[in-house]
Amino acid sequence: MNKIRIMKVLLVAIFLTMTGWFANSTFRQTESTVQAAQITPNVQAELLNDQMLVLGYNELGMHCMNEDFSEMAILPPFNTLRAQIIDRSGEEPKIVKSGVTVKYSIPGNTHSADKTNFWLFSKSLFGVDLLPDFGLTGNTLAGTMVARTQNDWEATGIPITQVNDQGINDPYQLAHITVVRNGQTVGQTRAVVPVSWEISCNLCHTSGPGKSIATDILRKHDRLHGTKLEQQKPVLCASCHSDNALGTAGSPGLPSLSRAMHNSHSGRVEGIGLSNSCYACHPGFRSQCQRDIHSTKGVTCTTCHGSMLAVANPNRRPWLDEPRCDSCHRRQGFEFEQPGTLYKESLGHKNVHCTACHGAPHAITPTITTADNVQAIAAQGYPGKINQCAVCHRTPPDEPFFHRRSDD
Ligand code: HEC
Ligand code: HEC
Ligand code: HEC
Ligand code: HEC
Ligand code: HEC
Ligand code: HEC
Ligand code: HEC
Repeated sequence: MNKIRIMKVLLVAIFLTMTGWFANSTFRQTESTVQAAQITPNVQAELLNDQMLVLGYNELGMHCMNEDFSEMAILPPFNTLRAQIIDRSGEEPKIVKSGVTVKYSIPGNTHSADKTNFWLFSKSLFGVDLLPDFGLTGNTLAGTMVARTQNDWEATGIPITQVNDQGINDPYQLAHITVVRNGQTVGQTRAVVPVSWEISCNLCHTSGPGKSIATDILRKHDRLHGTKLEQQKPVLCASCHSDNALGTAGSPGLPSLSRAMHNSHSGRVEGIGLSNSCYACHPGFRSQCQRDIHSTKGVTCTTCHGSMLAVANPNRRPWLDEPRCDSCHRRQGFEFEQPGTLYKESLGHKNVHCTACHGAPHAITPTITTADNVQAIAAQGYPGKINQCAVCHRTPPDEPFFHRRSDD
């Protein structure tokens, strides 16, 4: 009955939001492009002289978080940064698993508690009283990485936001990772810590007098499902809907958060004519989290993940059953992901991580973002997969390159 009027309002809302985005986005791109361009030559100089090669990468291609936690929370600030370290001072390259201190920091971003209200609500949402700027696993914006059994190093749950200390929005900030042995810096790199709160529920959920966007969402949930979420603010969605990202089991019989969202919104989002309907909730038209070689080649979210309903398929385990490189890429003699193992945990060439040579998911190099290309340019002079033997091998190998874990 009122469908046409509603569509009109929607379209105007979309138009206004988009023009705002474009104005903003030019600014952000310029900032991070300039920063990355200035940084690259310095990193290159440092790297060439270092005994150890450090390749940093994020566990996710993009970490999404809420900006405002006063009413509802999908995901907290929680970035996981990893690095693989290769000692190239000997005849053969050697993966370093101990005997060094690995430090990380994010130059230009040293505090978060004044940028999001997460710390005011961490107790009621996550049951822990956190000191300002401390994340859910005890890490801050600078600290020490620990060795993992997967032969790389890691700092979990870094509570970074997309706003740096100058107040500039940048979803692709560069972390500085340094390796110290006997008091001396023997290796370093810059790696992107991607984070964005560009979750555009406001495309369809509207605010009004006495009603924020989150209130609108909670009210609709209450009306459609007989819950009382508006009275229980702040609400952690994953407290009732299981979520493998947060490790919550949810209430028995309820759909997982991923299934609930993709299933119920499937028809809704496909009807409003966005060029990429996933960007209605994932970051986003401005952040462009899918920024890798595939976006250049016209491979989009749905080419790899399928439709909203495919993502909502109750037979898949959210966050655990994801697309695989080897479902599209097949090549004689090549090994891709290990069986039952995600790309982010898989290994290639003598146990070097896939992500060390190719980048994080959605950031498979070469990328359209300048920041994600910094590391490869610094290591070998050009962006893209690490394919220069000399980056790791001091003496040129006498056997050809093999992509699988073992050379036999
Ligand atoms: C493409 C438009 C659109 C977008 C984008 C959107 N929603 Fe919705 N959402 C709707 C519509 C339409 C309803 C149903 C309203 C009704 O029936 O009154 C709804 C309902 C809901 C409900 C009620 C439960 C149900 O049955 O689905 C929740 C919860 C919800 N949305 C959460 C969100 C969140 C969180 C986001 C952002 C991550 C979001 N929505 C983005 C259109 C949208
Ligand atoms: C107190 C428990 C509880 C909390 C907290 C909760 N939900 Fe729900 N949710 C439910 C119940 C119950 C249903 C109805 C499920 C059914 O009918 O199968 C539901 C249904 C939904 C649906 C519709 C699923 C579908 O396929 O139609 C969506 C979407 C949803 N919830 C999203 C959210 C979001 C987003 C949040 C956080 C803002 C949230 N829920 C928090 C209990 C909860
Ligand atoms: C209406 C909002 C909305 C839209 C539109 C949407 N998503 Fe999501 N998506 C979410 C939310 C919310 C989560 C986080 C759930 C969680 O924390 O577990 C999520 C998580 C995911 C995940 C990780 C969890 C999993 O199931 O493995 C994938 C993959 C994903 N979305 C893919 C897509 C793709 C592909 C599209 C477009 C076809 C899309 N999404 C569109 C809201 C949306
Ligand atoms: C080239 C294929 C490809 C494209 C294109 C792609 N993805 Fe993914 N996506 C993957 C793979 C592979 C993983 C799992 C990575 C892993 O195993 O570590 C993944 C994981 C995810 C996750 C889970 C969190 C994470 O980063 O592991 C979300 C959410 C997601 N994708 C959403 C999207 C959205 C939204 C788009 C489009 C904007 C998109 N993907 C485009 C291949 C793709
Ligand atoms: C849905 C299919 C699909 C999936 C899944 C997929 N790719 Fe691709 N990939 C493509 C296509 C198509 C191209 C473009 C090929 C061309 O233009 O020759 C491509 C190109 C590439 C390239 C550049 C071309 C090259 O050979 O150097 C790389 C690197 C790459 N993909 C790596 C990956 C990695 C790593 C994954 C898993 C995280 C992955 N791809 C997952 C379809 C896919
Ligand atoms: C030591 C660096 C290194 C590691 C580790 C590595 N790769 Fe590669 N990868 C390469 C190089 C170099 C090529 C290009 C080889 C060529 O074209 O001859 C390549 C090619 C690829 C391609 C494109 C293949 C094609 O031609 O279709 C994919 C997909 C890929 N790698 C995925 C992976 C996955 C998945 C892993 C982990 C299991 C991995 N890589 C580990 C360096 C690496
Ligand atoms: C990202 C680092 C990295 C890059 C780049 C790399 N390798 Fe390796 N490579 C290793 C590591 C680590 C080993 C394991 C050395 C060991 O433990 O004996 C290895 C081992 C080898 C071996 C086994 C024999 C040996 O020397 O131990 C060969 C052959 C080899 N690499 C060839 C190549 C070729 C050819 C290239 C360039 C196309 C290349 N590698 C690029 C890290 C790398």
